[in-house]
Amino acid sequence: MDKTLTPSGAAPLIDPFQRAINYLRVSVTDRCDFRCVYCMSENMTFLPKAQLLTLEELDTMCSTFIGLGVQKLRITGGEPLVRKGIMTFFDAMTRHLDSGALRELTLTTNGSQLEKFAPDLAAAGVRRINVSLDTLDDAKFAQITRWGRLPQVMRGIDAAQKAGLRVKINAVALKGFNEDELFTLTDWCASRDMDLTFIEVMPMGDIGNEDRLDQYWPLRDLRARLAERFTLTDLAERTGGPARYVRLEETGQKIGFITPLTHNFCESCNRVRLTCTGELYMCLGQEDMADLRAPLRAHPGDTAALEQAIRAAIRLKPKGHDFDYSRQVVDGKMSRHMSHTGG
Ligand code: GTP
Ligand code: 5AD
Ligand code: SF4
Repeated sequence: MDKTLTPSGAAPLIDPFQRAINYLRVSVTDRCDFRCVYCMSENMTFLPKAQLLTLEELDTMCSTFIGLGVQKLRITGGEPLVRKGIMTFFDAMTRHLDSGALRELTLTTNGSQLEKFAPDLAAAGVRRINVSLDTLDDAKFAQITRWGRLPQVMRGIDAAQKAGLRVKINAVALKGFNEDELFTLTDWCASRDMDLTFIEVMPMGDIGNEDRLDQYWPLRDLRARLAERFTLTDLAERTGGPARYVRLEETGQKIGFITPLTHNFCESCNRVRLTCTGELYMCLGQEDMADLRAPLRAHPGDTAALEQAIRAAIRLKPKGHDFDYSRQVVDGKMSRHMSHTGG
């Protein structure tokens, strides 16, 4: 990105390690209609609604970041589409796409509500969405998401494609769970013209009895398995996210790997995360955060204090996470759940 200009003419956001911050992930709710076993415990306590940023406040926050050079906005949760009135927010963000300040408006979703929202998302200017899906087996889907039902998500994916949205599937690689579906997932994505990205499971949040080390399937092993059947070519292209892509020469499809454990990608980190209560987390794997809700609420209609708080926070962005399972213990564990910061 051009490090010299932002839409508002202000200096761009550059962190202490000379990384330009142009990607904001916003969790619009901590709630979810699923209870994925690696993400939540079955009995989660959620935030009282009064603590949430209003839709207008979310707009001000995002617009301020866009003024400071953020070009990619990804809406997450929890499940973002269960937030009441969320389409009002998407519709409001369209103006930044129209002005050219924002290059991409997108979301990461579990797909449960897509049947209802896909056409509206497309109309708001969303072009590409990421759908989390770890298995194509009805029973296993119900087991891993506890509350989710696969046919509903399938209808959502159908609706998204029908609305012209490009779909990428995100699958968490889970040992003993979806290892045997490596090729079925790959073939299914090829048959539907969807990209597929695998993610290494990260030690986020207390999830009850599930043991991270038991779940962990290193992507270098998964990649080796893929290479037994396909010719893999590393691709230089990036989507602005942490995934590194390969092309399977036999099918032409693209497979992404998100490898926080086996290959740290923090040196090229370009993103920060805003929670639904207005906390800005500078790294998914560190505790450092700044409260942006206070400066926002203290000066309604004037974002100068907010801008200052954002700049001060970016100056504190840490070098990277400390996740590590290599000594057969879980290191760098975070007490926060993934649904808090949105992945
Ligand atoms: P694309 O725009 O398609 O590249 O998406 P993305 O990879 O930026 O976003 P997505 O929501 O699909 O991210 C998938 C997952 O990657 C997240 O849920 C996290 O689990 C992980 N991830 C994303 N960013 C980071 C990061 O900065 N650090 C770590 N450790 N994991 C990340
Ligand atoms: N490790 C890796 N990925 C996770 N996700 C949720 N919890 C974890 C975890 N502990 C994924 C979801 C979804 C995205 C938002 O984050 O499956 O794809
Ligand atoms: Fe919900 Fe996503 Fe967490 Fe699953 S991973 S419980 S879909 S927030």
